[in-house]
Amino acid sequence: MEIVNEIEPLREKISLWKKQGLKIGFVPTMGYLHEGHLSLVRESKKRCQVTVVSIFVNPKQFGPSEDYNLYPRDLERDRRLLEQEGVNLLYYPSVEAMYPEGYRTYVEVELLQDKLCGQSRPGHFRGVCTVVLKLFNLVQPDEAYFGWKDAQQVIIIKKMVEDLNLPVKVVPLPLVRDHDGLALSSRNTYLNPEERKAALVLKKSLDLAEKLILAGERDTGRIKEKIKELIQSEPLARIDYVEIVDLKTLESLEQLDREALVALAVFIGRTRLIDNLRVVSGGIEK
Ligand code: PAF
Repeated sequence: MEIVNEIEPLREKISLWKKQGLKIGFVPTMGYLHEGHLSLVRESKKRCQVTVVSIFVNPKQFGPSEDYNLYPRDLERDRRLLEQEGVNLLYYPSVEAMYPEGYRTYVEVELLQDKLCGQSRPGHFRGVCTVVLKLFNLVQPDEAYFGWKDAQQVIIIKKMVEDLNLPVKVVPLPLVRDHDGLALSSRNTYLNPEERKAALVLKKSLDLAEKLILAGERDTGRIKEKIKELIQSEPLARIDYVEIVDLKTLESLEQLDREALVALAVFIGRTRLIDNLRVVSGGIEK
């Protein structure tokens, strides 16, 4: 696996692969990789001749009081994992290379960026879209892989790609859970053992939502109430939001009468965790 930090050698390598007509798959990450990331890498390996992974903890998507400095980093471990998966190139740029002095350009996906996580993390999706567009321009992938764990991110990036006519196919893949159901996230490392147990309330509340929906409940107000009651029964949990929204527009729904996203953000102690389930024509995915 080649490791590239600079833009020029990355461009040279990509242009060589393009000339050879190879299909390029891309997995953008912030590192501290887990099985969720590796499932994206494996899909890319299956579908493409070349797989590129980026590791970049993007300062522009963290608010001033968020965990940019604390965010877990372990390049050596990540490098080993990616090598084992047969990744062709790891792009690992510095902050100065991505955002040199005088950087001024940002991407905003209006409306969608202000909903759900955008309310408690203003500017987050502006930072995500800006870095993802830059990475797409550098890597020029045919396909890029994202996990449904960050459902709002998937929906916003798909919209950005559509609106800006970017020649890349965004492929969302299923959320990966730990053995006990907790959605995998690099931020799970912040949880102490007691909090780790308490965090299971997210998955339990989605299980309850699934049961209600499968039993025929369509009133989103009642479903949200039940979810909130269950989360509030966990003393270490504090709700940021519980929402049921249209899967494309992220508009709040009163009735479950179309494809929808049941999305949660919950603080467990000081760690903010998200989880979701999607109600789609084929059933429920979580
Ligand atoms: O999902 C993430 O890890 C990040 O938001 C991404 C897509 C790598 C952009 O920094």
